[in-house]
Amino acid sequence: MTLRYSLIKRFNQTKPFYVTTPIFYVNASPHLGHLYSMLIADTRSRWEKLNPKNSSYMLTGTDEHGLKIQTVAEKQGIDPKLLCDQVSKNFKDLSNKFNIDYDRFIRTTDQDHIKVTHYFWNIMKEKGLIEKGSHSGWYCVSDETFYPEANTEEIEKNGKTIRISSETKNEVIYQEETNYFFKLSAFQDQLIKYLKENPNFIKPTHRYKFILNELMTTKLPDLSISRPSSRLKWSIEVPNDSTQKIYVWFDALLNYLTATGFPNGFEQDSKYVTPKNNLWPATHIIGKDIIRFHCIYWPIFLLAAGIELPKQIIVHSHWLCEGFKMSKSLGNVVDPIEMSEFYGIDSIRFFLIENSNIDDDCKFSENLLERSRDSLLGKYCNLLSRIGGINFNIEESVQYYKNSQFNDIKTFIKNNSIKKEIVPTILQISNELQENLNNLYDNMNQKIIEFDYIRAIQLWWQVINQANQLFQISEPWLYVKALNSNTNHQSSRLDPEMIKNYKKLINYYVYLCSETIRISSILIQPIIPSLSNDILNRLNVEPSKRNSNFVKIGKDLNYGKDANSKIHKLPLQKLKSRIK
Ligand code: MSP
Repeated sequence: MTLRYSLIKRFNQTKPFYVTTPIFYVNASPHLGHLYSMLIADTRSRWEKLNPKNSSYMLTGTDEHGLKIQTVAEKQGIDPKLLCDQVSKNFKDLSNKFNIDYDRFIRTTDQDHIKVTHYFWNIMKEKGLIEKGSHSGWYCVSDETFYPEANTEEIEKNGKTIRISSETKNEVIYQEETNYFFKLSAFQDQLIKYLKENPNFIKPTHRYKFILNELMTTKLPDLSISRPSSRLKWSIEVPNDSTQKIYVWFDALLNYLTATGFPNGFEQDSKYVTPKNNLWPATHIIGKDIIRFHCIYWPIFLLAAGIELPKQIIVHSHWLCEGFKMSKSLGNVVDPIEMSEFYGIDSIRFFLIENSNIDDDCKFSENLLERSRDSLLGKYCNLLSRIGGINFNIEESVQYYKNSQFNDIKTFIKNNSIKKEIVPTILQISNELQENLNNLYDNMNQKIIEFDYIRAIQLWWQVINQANQLFQISEPWLYVKALNSNTNHQSSRLDPEMIKNYKKLINYYVYLCSETIRISSILIQPIIPSLSNDILNRLNVEPSKRNSNFVKIGKDLNYGKDANSKIHKLPLQKLKSRIK
């Protein structure tokens, strides 16, 4: 075994794929956009686990410090921690309701996180990278960031002149204070070099280019990483200085390290060495609005501390509703819980991932959600209805395959089909379908690891559509009819050979459709875990055989028992449209 091979093998077996979502502010209830961030990570994490050789670790949680939370708590007249407890629970409930299979739900008020934040602050301080100084500038509470004056503008609002950020349109206020600063620019060249050597570090490419261009054309300003305690009460205290509180983004970004157990196990010489089986480095999923924090500040903090940079940062676009990013202030938020009560959890999961265009903003409309659900019902579930009735026998068809009864199937179809003229089409579709099914895992995998979920699902639909087409064109019910009328009408008896032949044809078409359902259901588990589970239960596929070792034709030779019993109901029901 070569060294490279053994390393890859060890890596595959012991190192989990570590994927994170942004941690969510607890100033308002979760909406569809937040759910989307979680789903992108959940899909990727579950996909990794489909392969029994791999493992994954998914981190999500809530971002609980800062002026934004403090202000909301003050307005509501409650203790900020109480607000955090309540709203954090809403996010946790949302992720549980939507079957987000996270490994840790972190809260920045967790004790281990506070310890890591202090520890990290001290590393920076010891390295001489943190300095006290005075600061004045335009602070935006809503975005928890200072903006240079050039990036702000004055507008009239309710008869008053206010200043807003040109980028986010949120109000900014002038503040003058003493802060601790971090010299971002000291690591600017190092980050540029890293980005040039690692063009896949930020995806999609246009976001990578945007960051690289910004770094190459603008000198980074010093970053204020603390605020006076008199102003910012609700944050982690700066070690050994009770007059200052740590800037919320400094604290928040560190959550990704807290979950790895940092600094436990990380060896330090001049740089921290990630322990072999440690989760770090992570793949971060973030929305485009927080790109600067993740693609400039975060890598610089890590470079400064001597910690390996993240594996990759995936920047997704936003879901727009009525043309704008959902936000409480605009009143255009879509409540995922309310939607799920009508459409069901998996329909929403499927819709968001099927339309997950990370490059461009996606437009939410209930109409599209309804159509997506209709397709799941009309094509995916319907394929099961077609072969799951009492006229067919899925278990028997699997046994035919097991006993090699389809080995001569091509000639057999040519010789025994009732309608000879469509034989070439049948053979062509069944060939293509088998090839596509056998390649489906690899092909979907290529797309999923690039976070191109749209194309992965298109490949998935392709086999479902082909199987439906095969069923339609091969008309197995014609043979069933001939066999049924044979038992009913004594006079027109088919000879025993014909009976055998017709049964074989029926079972062959049923088998291909049922293999399509089995394989496609295994592969769609990361996106619609509950619906696919119901369908695999219906086919009676053993739970231990629902992974990537079984996603080729004939890999499971023992399923289908009772799948054609009359007692079954489809796991998805037709809904009456509620759209006016
Ligand atoms: N707390 C910070 C993140 C800190 S990470 C160390 C934050 N929180 S947030 O609650 O405002 O946003 C969390 C994520 O939700 C962001 O990635 C943001 O892009 C995403 N979304 C918010 N609205 C969205 C849409 N309408 N559509 C898609 N994602 C959206 O930022």
